[in-house]
Amino acid sequence: MTRPTTNNRFEQLFIGVNLTVPTLDGTYHRYINLDNAASTPPLLSVQQVVNRFMEVYSSVHRGTGYKSQISTHAYEEARQVVLNFVGAEPVQHVCIFGKNTTEALNKLARRFPFSQERNVVLTSGMEHHSNDLPWRNMAQTVHVHLTPEGYLDEADFDAQLQRYGGRVALVTITGASNVTGILNPIHRLAEKTHAMGAQIAVDCAQLAPHRRIDMGVLDDPAHLDYVAISGHKLYAPFGTGALIGRRDTFETGDPDMSGGGTVEIVTLDDVTWSGPPDREEAGSPNTIGAVALAAAIHQLQEVGMESVAAHEAELTAYALEVLREIPGITLYGDPEPARADSRLGVIPFQVDQLSHFLVASILGYEYAIGVRSGCFCAHPYILHLLDIDPEAASNVRVRMLAGDKSDMPGLVRISFGLYNSFEDIDLLGEALRAIQRKEYKGTYTQNPSSGEYTPLGWNPDFDSYFNLAGAYDGRESFAS
Ligand SMILES: Cc1ncc(COP(=O)(O)O)c(C=O)c1O
Repeated sequence: MTRPTTNNRFEQLFIGVNLTVPTLDGTYHRYINLDNAASTPPLLSVQQVVNRFMEVYSSVHRGTGYKSQISTHAYEEARQVVLNFVGAEPVQHVCIFGKNTTEALNKLARRFPFSQERNVVLTSGMEHHSNDLPWRNMAQTVHVHLTPEGYLDEADFDAQLQRYGGRVALVTITGASNVTGILNPIHRLAEKTHAMGAQIAVDCAQLAPHRRIDMGVLDDPAHLDYVAISGHKLYAPFGTGALIGRRDTFETGDPDMSGGGTVEIVTLDDVTWSGPPDREEAGSPNTIGAVALAAAIHQLQEVGMESVAAHEAELTAYALEVLREIPGITLYGDPEPARADSRLGVIPFQVDQLSHFLVASILGYEYAIGVRSGCFCAHPYILHLLDIDPEAASNVRVRMLAGDKSDMPGLVRISFGLYNSFEDIDLLGEALRAIQRKEYKGTYTQNPSSGEYTPLGWNPDFDSYFNLAGAYDGRESFAS
């Protein structure tokens, strides 16, 4: 096995990635975060930009004061940064800020111009619930089949597109799976979608932190009509995400949420909406979040998305090599290290005879390695990957609805960020080898209502790391 020797030069760009935390036997270890597909730690530059921005921060848009003007300028500049990041065309596309990808996709579902003739949405069986559930009440939602390994079955995609033909309004698909890291051929799907006169939305929650996105101009048959991203998955955890989409979609119709900031004129019995993006951003926006997102994008662009992808491909190839040599580990998705550059560094697996909940707990409590286990908000995809037949799935559902999640199907997932290193993977490998040999130290009990395991004698002191009162230490008191 080839162990790359390069140090991770990106680690210094991040905050908090060398924190030491306690483990079950009382020893302290460097915390290894392998749960980046959920949320990422902040970039140092994001913290610095936010701190600087706080000094000039004020109300945005209609404020006439100088600080309001600075803040408005920064907020609108952030919009341009996001448009540029996803390769949008600023005249044809608009960037609408919101909380996260989930909010962006819900907004699109509510604002998309479905018609009587075009009322079918094609999506896939590999979607995160955030790109599946919002569509179900808005249109006839058809789930394209998958291959046994969890890839989109493109032959079925073609067949469904032909079958529903002129009724297809929208194809909405993930750019990359949050479970297997599989990348979808979004531009090829876009060409096929547009040839049918439909539009395409891409859930880029996972893709954006790892790959260059190029929405393109509307004349290009391979263009993307809508893209959704989350700042907290892009090293900017300040509560802002974005929907970037065709301006014409948001120029007509009522906004999905109304209120301050969305209007030109209001009378007691009439309202004239503003144009996008204002019409779509009801209430005061999260200006700091938008600035933080733009700062993270700047940093990633400075590193270069090609370098980001290359580093993560090296980590992924190495991790797949390490994992496949551990007896009793089954990898899901594509287990081939040689193809690591054509997928993301999101790797799901199972350890023979051990619950995914237990493996994830032992890694956390005994090795200070943060991973995630379960279904990752993609229940249908997990059932598919695990090849669970409908009857077995229905039996599990009955037990879960009765409050018993002890045998909930699921996987353990590791996912890399830019700051992870080969050493992180070595330590994970050592831990999994010991776990697989059942050499863990704790005595674990499972909580049936959540499925999670906790070791006996675990008594953490979170306050010594952070408590709100302590966070004020050093501040001059105003108490008299
Ligand atoms: C592919 C995918 N889509 C959507 C989401 C939802 O993102 P958020 O929680 O930021 O709204 C996630 C989150 O894990 C995801 O992985």
